Amino acid sequence: MVRLRHFRENQQIRDLVQESRISLKEFIYPLFVVEGENIKNEIKSMPDVYQMSIDNILRECETLCKMGIYHIILFGIPSIKDSIGSSALHEDAIVAKTIRKIKKYFSNMVVSVDLCFCEYTDHGHCGILDNNGNVDNDKTLEILAKQAILLASSGADIIAPSAMMDGQIKTLRKALDENHFTNILIMSYSTKFASAFYGPFRDVAESTPSFGDRKSYQQNPANRSEAIRESLIDEKEGADILMVKPALSYLDVVRDIKENSLLPLAVYNVSGEYAMLKNAKMAGLIDYDRMLLEIMLCFKRAGADIIISYHTKEIARLI
Ligand code: PBG
Repeated sequence: MVRLRHFRENQQIRDLVQESRISLKEFIYPLFVVEGENIKNEIKSMPDVYQMSIDNILRECETLCKMGIYHIILFGIPSIKDSIGSSALHEDAIVAKTIRKIKKYFSNMVVSVDLCFCEYTDHGHCGILDNNGNVDNDKTLEILAKQAILLASSGADIIAPSAMMDGQIKTLRKALDENHFTNILIMSYSTKFASAFYGPFRDVAESTPSFGDRKSYQQNPANRSEAIRESLIDEKEGADILMVKPALSYLDVVRDIKENSLLPLAVYNVSGEYAMLKNAKMAGLIDYDRMLLEIMLCFKRAGADIIISYHTKEIARLI
């Protein structure tokens, strides 16, 4: 006789045979930094998510450390945008100076940085455009490498390229190694779908494309084999951590990649997923805490090792 019920009757036994768990140690919390002082702008589409100036980012880091959260990923919102994203490339670029400050005061904070140009270009695309208005892959690789070196020399621990240019991991690994940043990890947004779930993020990061969309460089949500292939190419090019983004609607792909690679795998629980849950809570429709923990647990069951989530502080409170 099968004794499945006995497995579930007693809490201690349930704990003993539980296959997946969530731990705060595997969460990464996104932060958005803007120029200025004493700025903390809440974003309407993402309750409890703020654009913060560096002074407030430092206060936030203090809070995070007290809560036991030591992993953040930084996104920069510059005050000046141009066609080639030049404000990402100088010594005092917003993210570069933020990392230097964080590392000065919170040396045990592990700082990941999103490496992309969509927040820095006036057209909102992820790189330099050619004469036809398409992203020029190879020219963009050159500035991505420059941005990566700047962020690495400012103290970033993990570079997370999200621009989806072909060959970007190979280019970045080579550039980092040549500049003696051999110990900097690359967490690639290796399987990144062209998704409607990024909408609220683009409000926060002020990065909505002014024309067109990102379908030429982000993946078709319909394609499963291609999704695996994309991550495996990045592994070959030298990525240290792979990623699936968005998370919730793509758990089959998470499992597929987990079974095809031995690298650590991250999921990005994106802005649209966050906004849906928050709004359902505010409408009084759901048992929010339970639903939140269930979703996080299911990311783990699907095969995620790392979860990037705007819910990280709430998770800290709940577990
Ligand atoms: C690109 C980037 C995006 C997100 C993370 N990095 C936006 C995009 O691809 O349009 C989306 C994250 C989210 O929706 O929470 N810099």
